[in-house]
Order: sequence, then C-alpha cells, then structure tokens
Amino acid sequence: NNNLVVAIDGYSSCGKSTIAKALAKKLDFVYIDTGAMYRAVTLYFLRNNIDLTDVSAVEQALNDISISLRTQNGLAQVFLNGEDVSDEIRQMPVASNVSKVAAIKAVRQAMVRQQQLMGQSANIIMDGRDIGTTVFPDAQVKLFMTADPMIRAQRRHKELVAQNPDITINEVYENLALRDHDDTTREESPLVQAPDAIVLDNSYLTPKEQLDFALSKITPFI
Ligand code: C5P
Repeated sequence: NNNLVVAIDGYSSCGKSTIAKALAKKLDFVYIDTGAMYRAVTLYFLRNNIDLTDVSAVEQALNDISISLRTQNGLAQVFLNGEDVSDEIRQMPVASNVSKVAAIKAVRQAMVRQQQLMGQSANIIMDGRDIGTTVFPDAQVKLFMTADPMIRAQRRHKELVAQNPDITINEVYENLALRDHDDTTREESPLVQAPDAIVLDNSYLTPKEQLDFALSKITPFI
C-alpha cells in the first residue's frame, strides 16, 4: 500500500474537519470524516430504539446499516442506507448519544474495518479520535488537534444556532466536555495522542495558518 495517509485526531470541535477538508481539496486527496460514520450509526440506533446493552441487537443493526461518504464542492455528505443524513447527524439528539454508541466494541470493529478499506485505494485525509493510534498506526503524517474548550464551544455554538436558535453556549460546552470525557476514558481505543503525532493547538490560529502548518508537514511525503 503506497497511498499516503494523513491522520487527524483530537478533541471534539477542534476544527479537525475544517482543516481536513481544506487539505483534501488542496492536495486532491479523499476526505474521510469518521465522526460522521459514528454519528450515522447513532442516528440509526436512535430511530430504531436499539438497546445499546443488547449485543445481538447491536450486531444485527450493524449488519443492516450501510454508510457512505461523498464530498462535493467542499460539502461533505453522509448517507445512511442511501438517505442523506448530513444535517440530522449534527443535531443534539445524535451529539448527546454518539459517544455512548462509539464506545461499543462491535460498533468500533465495524467502523474501523470500513475505514481501513477506504484507505486502500486512494490518498486520504481521515479525521477522528483513533486514526493515528488504531485505524492507521502507520500513517505517514499524524496531527493531534486541540484548542481551548471555551473557544471550541463558541465555534460550535455559532454553527448550531443557525438550525436551533434556542441552544445555549453552556449546553454546547457541556456536550463537548462530556464527549471528551467519554472519548478519553472509554476502554475501546480511547482518544489519546499517538507518540509520533504532531500537536496543533489552533485556539489562536487562522484557518490559513493552520493549513500552511499542516501542508508543511505533509508535502515532504508527496
Ligand atoms: O468528530 P465528531 O465530533 O463528529 O465525532 C462524534 C463522536 O464520534 C465523537 O465524540 C466520538 O465519540 C466518536 N468518534 C470516535 N472515533 C472516531 C471518530 C468519532 O469514537 N474515529
């Protein structure tokens, strides 16, 4: 496998997908948003009232799910069994449940398998929580993104308030804190910085500064 893999991991709402999309466009790589995959699974589980503690129900549900990603004109779309769920997976019901779903072993196994297959046939930029540690431990470039929690909450609130005018910064902050807690403390591939990852704290960086930094780490491999 001679494909180039750029792994971007980090906390919730650090701007991973923003930089990943910009990099993919600039380099003509395929962008893979693994968080969107866990969100799509969560949406399916919510709609079908899947009991998260019922292993066989979870496994059956995973068999019934097909998730695909498509990026067009800078817009990343997510399809669940053929239905475009790109907007719905960003809303609070999914955000509040996704970390519980993503902690389930069978869910992670199914997603990781699909993600590894996606990386076999193209140069990819993949973002998530366990890309540089579990999905592609041999990725040529690994970035670990972080930012001040309140700055992250303000950024995400700005996005969410367009669809949900009543949402408060505090609500968003609490959701991010809870997801970070769940993601870093779970048993199955917790969020942790890979030893060979490059840290990018973007609290006070413009999108252009972040992009230039990341490009300087990737171009030596092209
Ligand atoms: O990246 P995003 O915030 O959309 O991810 C939503 C949730 O999916 C995360 O909070 C985490 O619980 C889970 N996730 C994961 N592993 C990944 C990507 C996302 O556990 N590789």
